Amino acid sequence: MSFAEHATLHDTPVPFNVRINTMTIHRILLMGNEHLKRVSAPVDDPSSPAVAALVDDLLDTINSVDGNGLAAPQVGVNLRVVVYRVPAHRIPAGARQQPVPWTTLINPVLTPLDDEKRPIWERCQSLPNLYGRVPRYNHIRLTYTTLSGESQTRVARGYHAMLLQHECDHLDGVLYPMRMTDMRDLAFVSELMPDGRDFFSYTAAQFDGD
Ligand code: NI
Repeated sequence: MSFAEHATLHDTPVPFNVRINTMTIHRILLMGNEHLKRVSAPVDDPSSPAVAALVDDLLDTINSVDGNGLAAPQVGVNLRVVVYRVPAHRIPAGARQQPVPWTTLINPVLTPLDDEKRPIWERCQSLPNLYGRVPRYNHIRLTYTTLSGESQTRVARGYHAMLLQHECDHLDGVLYPMRMTDMRDLAFVSELMPDGRDFFSYTAAQFDGD
């Protein structure tokens, strides 16, 4: 099988950085890379051109694999920068969660709003073809700085809350298996969903965190 076919069938990241005109698709680093183990540094100047360029690269890279979140350490930059979204086509029927457009988080801080954790299936571009079920806070508050230097706050539940915890963990050198409490819940996508689906079918209640 050629690499192109392989890349179409699986979520294997490109094996090297690809530059197309002004677009840069970075190789997404895989578990075991030292960049993924480090505590990343805060961004001093969120409105600097260098940070904007980094965010462009993160978006080009994550869009190339149709993912929903990417943290700067995953492309070898140990700064506290995340891009994420909740796209409409991933929201199950009956869920109340609204789509979240691509959002850039500079120096994000998460605060659980209660003690409740729920197990939820998640995956990571740095661990291709795997899903793990991870206990995550179900209800959190996010504060972050935008690229223009403004402070923002969001409240999230369910899938949205999990995604934020997953991405922000990358900034502290934490990958989701390190949060798992039952390693029997680490599964290849093809075994978890033998019907060929690529994205776990959350119920509306699981997705919304109801
Ligand atoms: Ni990840």
